[in-house]
Amino acid sequence: MKASDIVIRRAEESDGEFAYQTVERTMKGYALALWGTWLEAEARRNAASDAKSGRSRIIQRGSERVGVVCVDRLATHHQLEQLYIVPEHQRQGIGAHVLQLVLSEAQAAGLPVRLRVLRNNPAKAFYERHGFSVAAESPERFFMERALNLPETPVLQTARLVLRPLRLEDAPAIQRHFAHWEVVRWLDGRVPWPYPDNGAEMYVQGSMDVRAQGKRFFWAICFKEAPHDLVGLIELLPDDGSHDQRGFWIAKEFQGRGLMTEAADRVTEYAFLQLGWPHLWLTNAEGNVASSRIKRRQGAQLVKKMEKKYVSGVAGGEVWLLKSEDWKRHRTL
Ligand SMILES: CC(C)(COP(=O)(O)OP(=O)(O)OC[C@H]1O[C@@H](n2cnc3c(N)ncnc32)[C@H](O)[C@@H]1OP(=O)(O)O)[C@@H](O)C(=O)NCCC(=O)NCCS
Repeated sequence: MKASDIVIRRAEESDGEFAYQTVERTMKGYALALWGTWLEAEARRNAASDAKSGRSRIIQRGSERVGVVCVDRLATHHQLEQLYIVPEHQRQGIGAHVLQLVLSEAQAAGLPVRLRVLRNNPAKAFYERHGFSVAAESPERFFMERALNLPETPVLQTARLVLRPLRLEDAPAIQRHFAHWEVVRWLDGRVPWPYPDNGAEMYVQGSMDVRAQGKRFFWAICFKEAPHDLVGLIELLPDDGSHDQRGFWIAKEFQGRGLMTEAADRVTEYAFLQLGWPHLWLTNAEGNVASSRIKRRQGAQLVKKMEKKYVSGVAGGEVWLLKSEDWKRHRTL
């Protein structure tokens, strides 16, 4: 199969019967084995309405229709609702090619891809080969997700700082700068306090694993004149539904000098301009005025307030949404 032979086009009303036949030929056996019944009328109605509305797309090899794909592009993720290749065209790489296109589109949008697959459908192994893993399961289905595979952590520069990838040798500097009340008091209550002697080492090792899985960026914040000496940290992750995509701290002797404003803006620029992410969800304790000002200044909108457990106890928290277009507007002011 040549990739150029495969065309994906929007479905039309006249594709309704083909779409239904494809679902029936690929899925009916699994449905009968699982439930003992096939809801033909409902399946026909859905195939017809998805074709008519253009929600589904037709996969063609040259001029021949060989399958159906349907992806719902939601704000938090792309949901792969259907990927059906008719039996005589299976096992020729068409499904893999279409799936790769779906994955690249989500990657470009900065979003993960999710899908549901019946437990008795061997397609589960196919999705696993393409980087999906089971996020949840029910007696009938697996709910799978393919997280965003982030690129290598780049070195970023600001006027005074260099942000470079976190490394194992940073553990002693983290232990020295982080274990202070002024740094931890408004951080998430899961941060152990009093901070254990091996706290930084555990943190760095855990971070390296998460980084190796391509799930999150970790930058050591250093002064340009001392690029090996970590004085703070900044983390960034894709929208995973937790509404918390960026975290930062800086050593107490360097707080209040505009340094995190500088670092956070550079990382935000990377997320919006290089990665093309549409937004960032951000949080802080209400009492953490400096952190909250950084968000407001970037153009973030306060979305909700809620109680949360911090290292210093339960207190009010703020959840912000920073949209790429709002950040760009604020930037030029
Ligand atoms: C929050 C933190 C990262 C801010 O970094 P920073 O380098 O000190 O911040 P900046 O100097 O860039 O200041 C950011 C804004 O907060 C203001 N600010 C700084 N320190 C402040 C303070 N103690 N009280 C009130 N406002 C303060 C600054 O004036 C600035 O506001 P402006 O842009 O309107 O002028 C830093 O204080 C810190 O590490 N705190 C501990 C860890 C933490 O709480 N992380 C955030 C968790 S959500």
